[in-house]
Amino acid sequence: MTSTHGLPYGLRGRAAVVTGGTRGIGRAVAAALAAAGALVCVSARDAAEVRRTAAELGGVGLAGSVAEPEHARELTRLALSEFGRLDILVNNAATNRPYGPLMDADLGLWREAFTVNVEAPLRLTQCAWRGWMREHGGSVVNICTEGAAHVGPDVGAYGTSKAALLHLTEQLAGELAPRVRVNSVSPGLVRTEMARFMWEPREDEIAAGLPLGRIGEPEDVAEAVLWLASDAARWVTGADLVVDGGTRVRAAHLPT
Ligand SMILES: NC(=O)c1ccc[n+]([C@@H]2O[C@H](COP(=O)([O-])OP(=O)(O)OC[C@H]3O[C@@H](n4cnc5c(N)ncnc54)[C@H](OP(=O)(O)O)[C@@H]3O)[C@@H](O)[C@H]2O)c1
Repeated sequence: MTSTHGLPYGLRGRAAVVTGGTRGIGRAVAAALAAAGALVCVSARDAAEVRRTAAELGGVGLAGSVAEPEHARELTRLALSEFGRLDILVNNAATNRPYGPLMDADLGLWREAFTVNVEAPLRLTQCAWRGWMREHGGSVVNICTEGAAHVGPDVGAYGTSKAALLHLTEQLAGELAPRVRVNSVSPGLVRTEMARFMWEPREDEIAAGLPLGRIGEPEDVAEAVLWLASDAARWVTGADLVVDGGTRVRAAHLPT
């Protein structure tokens, strides 16, 4: 695959792990990496979906939850044993639970949100660093959210954990340079299962309020991840690339 300027992304022979790679944004990222020549290893909890996706992308997969420490270690081992390398890690799997006011939040679910959304990306980065990247270099991309920059109703646990992931991204970028670049992509509202409850009831209304006139598609986010993962972004680390159709600047938008 080439960039829109015809420059090759140069991922042929590189190996990538994408968590939550069986649907939505993760699936689009895994497909974009594979189309750019990378060998992909996907993970998700549903074993049948993992098998199907790995077969479709000509890669490999491992079923399990990123919340399990052993899953991170096994996933890294699998990529290294199958591909002999691990150049790209995309921490995409996440949970948006517990949903609702924080005074009602189940703290077990709160801990689970931090385990999946913050601890797992750190653990996987540790595994990738120790297994390959410390010696050979690499690129880590964490999927955050445009919403982490502000507060909103019912998303306190999700927003707080994603804000922590943004901070973790910057911290790791400093710690792991120059060998490993660590960046994040922060999507706005994207047409996926996780966000269906938000876009389905009033998509036209939401789209009309966005400067770029529509909600996002998973491929919109995948393009940004692909760029950050590739050598085209060789002088970019610790950055957060907001891919939100103009959500953050909508207050200045004059409806046509
Ligand atoms: N959609 C949006 O509007 C939006 C906006 C901002 C940010 N994001 C972020 O984008 C990322 C992807 O979200 P999405 O909307 O594409 O979600 P999605 O369509 O629900 O897909 C989630 C993927 O992650 C897997 N997954 C979920 N929990 C997992 C776990 N504990 N361990 C391993 N895999 C797990 C799912 O498969 P299984 O269920 O089989 O595990 C699936 O492959 C998330 O980080 C999300 O926070 C999304």
